[in-house]
Amino acid sequence: MAYGEHYDEIGQWSVDKLKFIEDYLPHYLRATKKAYHRYYIDCFAGKGKWIHKDTKQIIDGSPAISMKYKDQFTKLFYIEMDTDRCKSLEELVKENNCINAEIINGDCNIEIEGILNRIHPRAPTFVFVDPSADQVSFLMMEKLSKWKTELFILFPYQMTIRRYLPVNIKSLTDWGVERLNKFFGTNEWINIYKTTSRNYLLDKMLKFYTNRLKDLGYEYIHISDVFKVHGGPDLYMMIWVGKHPVGEKIMRKVYENQKEQLSLF
Ligand SMILES: C[S@@+](CC[C@H](N)C(=O)[O-])C[C@H]1O[C@@H](n2cnc3c(N)ncnc32)[C@H](O)[C@@H]1O
Repeated sequence: MAYGEHYDEIGQWSVDKLKFIEDYLPHYLRATKKAYHRYYIDCFAGKGKWIHKDTKQIIDGSPAISMKYKDQFTKLFYIEMDTDRCKSLEELVKENNCINAEIINGDCNIEIEGILNRIHPRAPTFVFVDPSADQVSFLMMEKLSKWKTELFILFPYQMTIRRYLPVNIKSLTDWGVERLNKFFGTNEWINIYKTTSRNYLLDKMLKFYTNRLKDLGYEYIHISDVFKVHGGPDLYMMIWVGKHPVGEKIMRKVYENQKEQLSLF
């Protein structure tokens, strides 16, 4: 389920996803503490805080989590397409007196270029790529890879791959093909779709995607287990990619700790 079925509510699987970023960020900041400048980019920022769908508790979204570390980042960029959500983000910025935050109301695939041009290519930059469906174009990944970035990416299996790849190839739509070409940055995925049994399709598509990220220079990759709704379908997995082995080591540790604690794996 996308964020916003009930506009402000999120499910436990999203809370668990956020826990990874919450746990990773302090380690990331420690590992990069010698850098003169450091940046945080939230490509799909959302509205800052949410309400837990079941418990009705207030949950910090990625902007609220990252603002806890505002003093350690040179600048924090929040890109969000929805104007109302940008207004909520402005409130959050005020509440936290986060003077080094900047909210950009727009499409991250377009806005990213302008942001990167303001960042030194060798300044450590953490990028959270948390779409609700298929909105990430591979072109954005290509742009990000030219900077000293680490990315934490939601791989939208249920919301994209599964939806656009019907069991019967005759039902494949031009629309789905176009979206997947943009998502993978190539049409080569189609051969995998044609030749892979349904049981292995997710693994193969995931491998194809992460290999493409590797080709961009993200040598180190860590993939989470599948996030699921209890008794429901596989939703997505979280991919961490970076260019430094220390990042991978930290992320592996964070995943292992989380796995012990979380209910969804
Ligand atoms: C899954 S939510 C983000 C949740 C947020 N990262 C958090 O943890 O609180 C996805 C958000 O991306 C926004 N969005 C969708 N397409 C976008 C795009 N192309 N560029 C920027 N924001 C987009 C949606 O309005 C939605 O608020």
